[in-house]
Amino acid sequence: MNKTLNEFYRAGFISTAISEGIYDVLSNGPESIEDMQRNIGTGIDKEGLKAWLDLGVAIGELDKKNGGYSIKSSFSKKILKPANDTWKAFFQARVEIFYDYIKNTPALLKQNKKFDFSHSYGELFAKSSRTVEPLLIDVVDKIIPSNGACRLLEAGCGSGIYIKRACDRNPNLTVIGLELQKPVADFARENTIIWQINNRVTIEHIDVRHFQSDNQFNIVTFFNLIYYFPEDERTELLRNLGNLLSPGGTLILTTLCPANDPSIQLMNLWSSMTDGFGPLPTPDNVCDQLYDAGFNEIQFEKLIPAFYLFKARKSGY
Ligand SMILES: C[S@@+](CC[C@H](N)C(=O)[O-])C[C@H]1O[C@@H](n2cnc3c(N)ncnc32)[C@H](O)[C@@H]1O
Repeated sequence: MNKTLNEFYRAGFISTAISEGIYDVLSNGPESIEDMQRNIGTGIDKEGLKAWLDLGVAIGELDKKNGGYSIKSSFSKKILKPANDTWKAFFQARVEIFYDYIKNTPALLKQNKKFDFSHSYGELFAKSSRTVEPLLIDVVDKIIPSNGACRLLEAGCGSGIYIKRACDRNPNLTVIGLELQKPVADFARENTIIWQINNRVTIEHIDVRHFQSDNQFNIVTFFNLIYYFPEDERTELLRNLGNLLSPGGTLILTTLCPANDPSIQLMNLWSSMTDGFGPLPTPDNVCDQLYDAGFNEIQFEKLIPAFYLFKARKSGY
């Protein structure tokens, strides 16, 4: 029992030490309680803070020598390295968001309710979804032609990182990125300025379901987004995306698919239990919905276990 509970305490302790800035303070070396009080915020109760830090010592996360606290565990030291920022967000998302789903799903089900999609989690989600970035960067490199005029529409563009990669690849590419969450759309727009691609990229703060355009696109990308929609709305959405493609254009879709793996099942629990979203689709589900949406050339491949890439076109169109 101790082994299981200690891991549980550790995960909560580490995530909170990150989100409350305590590890930022401790990263500078051993700190006394008084230093910590000064650095974390005025008026912090000394006994409470000491009790919290001593718990950290007892579970092996912190060291305490000569009254000074420092970070001890190699896991915490590794996750705090800037190169591991994405995994830090991945970890925090599991503790701060997904744990709520593990704990409260049965109670909500009994009340016939689901979780609200909390927009405040946008940043944590955007950061943690970058764990698949190396794979998607490869996908972008394969699908974007390196020259010639080309119009790209990216649905659910997040930080805009794939738009950047596409623009780096083709100097004649123009892009519209759609993003539902305003803070995320603003972040993507600021990024386009920093990356100096704002002259050929427009970021729209809009629900992809409401997007209309007189222009058509050679490529539409729909990365890791299909489970943000209920199952019975997906075919119509795919049909609308198909109507935005120019003749011969391609829809590129990536998604997690169900697998008997804790991380994947947690994502499936999150998408199944968030209001307005739906379960992770099986590869067959996606193919069937693409056919029903009017696509008749469909290819798919497994990029890594449980993560699939689909390419869909309408031939003779
Ligand atoms: C999992 S993230 C994926 C971000 C990026 N495409 C990636 O793969 O890293 C999904 C993004 O799509 C946005 N999104 C969700 N539903 C949307 C909708 N209906 N219309 C536009 N964007 C949406 C979310 O706000 C989030 O930023």
